[in-house]
Amino acid sequence: MSYFEIIGGRKLNGEIEVKGAKNAALKAVASALLSREKWTITNLPQIEDISRILEMVEDLGAEAKRSKNKVEIQAKNIKKSRLSERLAGKLRASIILAGPVLARTGKVSMPYPGGCVIGKRPIDLFLAGFQKMGAKVKWQDDHFSLSAKKLKGAKIFFPKITVTGTEAMMITAVVAEGETILENAAMEPEIPALAEFLNRSGSKISGAGTPTIRIKGVKKIGGGRMKIIPDRIETGTFVILAALCGGKIKIKNCNPDHIRAFLANIQKAGVRIEEENNELVVWGAEKINPVNVSTHEYPGFATDLQPPFTLLMTRARGTSQIHDPIFEGRLLFTDILNSMGANIVLNDPHRATVQGPTKLRGRKIASPDLRAGITLLLSGLIAKGKTTVENIYQIDRGYERIEERLQKLGADIKRIEK
Ligand code: EPZ
Repeated sequence: MSYFEIIGGRKLNGEIEVKGAKNAALKAVASALLSREKWTITNLPQIEDISRILEMVEDLGAEAKRSKNKVEIQAKNIKKSRLSERLAGKLRASIILAGPVLARTGKVSMPYPGGCVIGKRPIDLFLAGFQKMGAKVKWQDDHFSLSAKKLKGAKIFFPKITVTGTEAMMITAVVAEGETILENAAMEPEIPALAEFLNRSGSKISGAGTPTIRIKGVKKIGGGRMKIIPDRIETGTFVILAALCGGKIKIKNCNPDHIRAFLANIQKAGVRIEEENNELVVWGAEKINPVNVSTHEYPGFATDLQPPFTLLMTRARGTSQIHDPIFEGRLLFTDILNSMGANIVLNDPHRATVQGPTKLRGRKIASPDLRAGITLLLSGLIAKGKTTVENIYQIDRGYERIEERLQKLGADIKRIEK
């Protein structure tokens, strides 16, 4: 298994480009299965999660021609209705394939989807939504199957806001008979981006990006083109990188409008930041103020940016409270930061108190999940001495060739292949 070896303490300077959003690209690839025609997706990030979902659509019978940051997908026929056991177990987003396969073949079966170990991650809202659209749900051990001769439009109220749940229902409803209304829908930027794409291919979706989405089912989805929006989580992660390790870093190809709540808190922390169109310039912060944050669905502070923000707070002069109500396992990585010298008390699974400033010491650590993983990598960049980060598949799932991009800024980081 490969690992990263990092020598901390280097000042970083220069420019770094944000790649296409993982969580938008996964849904775009899945949506391509709705059509028999060709879909071209550009600004596709070259990351492990995208490789896995492309393997899954190929396994189902679609053709996927990939060249660097572009893929052409054509699903003339869907050969199977059972998703690959091995791959679905690795990727929570595999559940997004259920709707298109169900719509094309009348049935679909898959194991309980895997992915980041950040909490329970139930799928009840997906299953309830599919049932409302006329699907029968069957469970056998840890597998479930859905079947429906015909999918019909439905009124679906989400008792809890769910990003992938909203997207899954939207993708399925575009080919269901009649109108679907999704209420208390998620509003993350990936959702209107997906709706725009689907509409260009013949769907009739309105209201995406608001809590009520209306979808009029159509008989046929055509071909299409989509440029993936910039990854807002990568953008925010690079802002923290610059605050901790700059120098001065210019973050290119981003959309600051997608991380307003995060940027407001970064400014409260005293980080100097300048914005111009789709670029952010961030300076290393000498003095960081403590800030209390609570994560929230969009447009609030993204839970995926909580781990790097918590790391930033270990450098703040004073106490900050971090509240992450969305998943119950998202603060567990703070134990690893403590083993490096941080002073973080976990009050309950959703609340942590960070006492700063503390200095971190390098050591051997392993990344538990994607966003905690990149945070541990950042902690290695500011720690004294050598840090070894293992289990880096978790980081490669969401960040394209991260060590090469950090080396260009002056970081001392190496990928060691074992
Ligand atoms: C998406 O996960 C993202 N993943 C996550 O990013 C992100 O952390 C999360 O949204 C919140 O922003 C993808 O888009 C692939 P949810 P998702 O359904 O859609 C509960 C990353 O690192 N819930 O919005 O799976 C759930 O337990 C990943 O890129 C149910 O109770 O999250 C949670 O408490 C990690 N039943 C809440 O809803 C359900 O059926 C929100 O989860 C579904 C969800």
